[in-house]
Amino acid sequence: MDEIDVIDRGAAAIRAHLGGPFPKTALVLGSGLGKFAETLSDIRSVSYGDIPGFSRSTVVGHAGKLVVGNAGGRPVAVLQGRIHAYEGYAAQTIAAPIRILKTLGVECLFLTNASGGLSEKMQPGTLMIIEDHINFSNFNPLVGPNDDRFGPRFPDMTDAYDPGLRALLASAAREAGVAVTSGIYVFAIGPSFETAAEIRMYGKLGADAVGMSTVPECIVARHCGMKVVGLSVVTNLATGIAKQPLSHAETLAEAAKAYGRVERLLANFLAVLP
Ligand code: HPA
Repeated sequence: MDEIDVIDRGAAAIRAHLGGPFPKTALVLGSGLGKFAETLSDIRSVSYGDIPGFSRSTVVGHAGKLVVGNAGGRPVAVLQGRIHAYEGYAAQTIAAPIRILKTLGVECLFLTNASGGLSEKMQPGTLMIIEDHINFSNFNPLVGPNDDRFGPRFPDMTDAYDPGLRALLASAAREAGVAVTSGIYVFAIGPSFETAAEIRMYGKLGADAVGMSTVPECIVARHCGMKVVGLSVVTNLATGIAKQPLSHAETLAEAAKAYGRVERLLANFLAVLP
C-alpha cells in the first residue's frame, strides 16, 4: 500500500470516528504532559489503533489517543502520545500522523517535549520556547521518494519555528505569569541518553536543551507548509552536568511537577491565537 493511500485512509477514519469539522490547530503532547488532553471541553477521541497511519508508541508516558475538543475557547486536536525515531519506525511512519493532520486541514502545529538542560541555567522545571533546532542525527523523516503533493524535495527551514507564534507564546507566558526562556533544541536520536562528552559538544554548538523528539515532526510539518511552535520542558540537567545518573522516571516526575504551568501557558496561548 503506498503512503498516500495510508494518509487518505487515516484522515477518513478520523473523520468517520469524530465527525464534525476538524480543528485547524493541533498539539503534540510530550512525555508527562498528556494530561492536557483531559482539560479540553466537549471531548471526542479515537485510539491510534483505529487510525491507519497512526502507530502506538511503545514508551511509558505516551498514551495513544487523538483527542479533539475546546481549549481557550478554540477547537483543538491533541495527539496524546507520539512515536519516536528511536523506536525503530521508518521515516514514512513518523511522517504519517503529521500528514494526516495536514490532510484534515491543520494549519498550526504546537509541539511539546521533555528535554535535558545543557547548562546550569537550564534547571529542571525551566520552560523553553524553541527558537530553532539542530538535527544532530542521521535521521530525517523526508528521506525516501518525495511526494510533491505535500511539499518540495528540498524544503526551506528558515524560521522553522514561526517567529509570530513564538512571540505570541512569550506574551501569553507573561500574561499567565509563567516564566519562560527561549533557546535552541538539539535532537539526539537516543534511546541512550547522551555521554558527558556529547553534552559538552552540544553546548559548544550553541544548543540549550537536548531531546529525542520534536525535530522530525517539525521537519514534516514545515515540508507541508504548517506553522510550527514548540515548547520544551527541561526535566533534568544533561549528563555530566547532572550530579546523578539520568532516567526516564525522572523525566516523567519532573514533567509532572511542571505540568500546572504548562497547562496555564497552553490555555492562555490558545486563547490569544488568531
Ligand atoms: N537527554 C535526552 N532526552 C531527554 C533528556 C536528556 O537529558 N531529558 C528528557 N529527555
